[in-house]
Amino acid sequence: MSNSAPERSVERSYALYREALEIIPGGVQLISRRPQLYALGMTPPYVSRGKGSRFWDLDGNEYIDFMMCVGASILGYADDAVDEAVIAQIRQGTAYSVSHPLEYELARELIATIPCAEMVRYCKGGGEANTIAVRIARGYTGREKVLFCGYHGWHDWYLAANLENDSVLDAHLLPGIKPQGVPQGLAGTALPFRYNDLESLEQQLEHNKGQVACIILEASRGASLPAPGFLEGVRALATAHGAVLIFDEVVTGFRLGLGGAQAQFGVLPDLATYAKAISNGYAMGAVVGRGAVMSVVGEMFVSSTYWSDSVGLAASLATIRELRKRDAFARITAIGTRFQQSFNELAEEHELPLRASGLPQQIAISASSGDSEQKRGLKDYYVQEMTRRGFFTSFGVSPSYAHTDADLDEAIGAWRAVFPLLRAALHTGDWDARIVARSVDAFRRQVG
Ligand SMILES: Cc1ncc(COP(=O)(O)O)c(C=O)c1O
Repeated sequence: MSNSAPERSVERSYALYREALEIIPGGVQLISRRPQLYALGMTPPYVSRGKGSRFWDLDGNEYIDFMMCVGASILGYADDAVDEAVIAQIRQGTAYSVSHPLEYELARELIATIPCAEMVRYCKGGGEANTIAVRIARGYTGREKVLFCGYHGWHDWYLAANLENDSVLDAHLLPGIKPQGVPQGLAGTALPFRYNDLESLEQQLEHNKGQVACIILEASRGASLPAPGFLEGVRALATAHGAVLIFDEVVTGFRLGLGGAQAQFGVLPDLATYAKAISNGYAMGAVVGRGAVMSVVGEMFVSSTYWSDSVGLAASLATIRELRKRDAFARITAIGTRFQQSFNELAEEHELPLRASGLPQQIAISASSGDSEQKRGLKDYYVQEMTRRGFFTSFGVSPSYAHTDADLDEAIGAWRAVFPLLRAALHTGDWDARIVARSVDAFRRQVG
């Protein structure tokens, strides 16, 4: 196979993006849709349609997508069974003056599926689910402080972490988040601890004795897997300090199996939050948990018009049932495992310091050696060359049920063409000459 790839025009997409930037501040509604995070100038800002593991951009180019709407599209784009359930529901109406029984039906399904779930509330997204969970924890305990690890959304309770020092959140997924607009009065209410570091959690609990409402974390993320005893230790510390333990399962939920991370790792939180894969691309979120904790929300003011619209409910029910019926977890695991094995074998063959690690359902590629310029060069050059060859991908990979072995065969063909280029760049160090479509920090340049 030749090492060069035909140029794809993304002119229409970028012309629209430039215009959109004039009337939509920041250009996008979700930071990870910013093209500057990938290969700016090459990564298409706009899609026209998607099906299965693929989408077509505004200029008509086809991509095999390894991101799948930040993992939300777990069964694939435009899944027939989910879409038919939604369309049938739409024909009956979508949101009414009173509740629809689907609300109860989905709650029963979630309770039967998720180990810690005894009661359920709904919302429309992950950040919102976490905000509700934190509110419940504060209401239940009568305390204010939140100990967190990782990324949990855009709301005030979380961004408050950056009020006293605006680099606190840098180590928790997204660097450069400014707490602009978050009331200064919330300073000191959201405090970080380090993943796999029980001591850092214990220190925070001791320093804030009797004031911690909840501990919130993702049980695993990308390459970060729980060290033996870590989650059990977090559970024990939460119980000992009377803090509510919240697992943010916005990414792990339904991806690490129907029971999510809590079933996978065998540790039960008090509350767990869901969005993304719960509904295969329809807006939906949920907070579930122990009845004793959840029931306080019945007395609190937590309420919104579209939280129980029947589109999200129908989509979630269909998604969960299809995931179960198709044994999607086994398929996603097989695809992810083949991705990791093939990627790692070829990387080794080409003497690249790149590894695809983490769980096969939630893969993280990283460079194991080299300085920051080299690491960034490897990532940008990889993304650029894979984009040229028709892949929408980066260093975080979300395999879906819709990915086929033929998709992986294509990926393997692309790696065989791209890895020698990376090897050559490592040798010469001429990253700038080779990378024409660089990534840019999330909060910097918006268009090339
Ligand atoms: C772990 C985690 N929690 C919460 C969120 C926020 O979810 P949403 O974008 O649906 O508000 C995300 C989004 O990426 C996430 O990864």
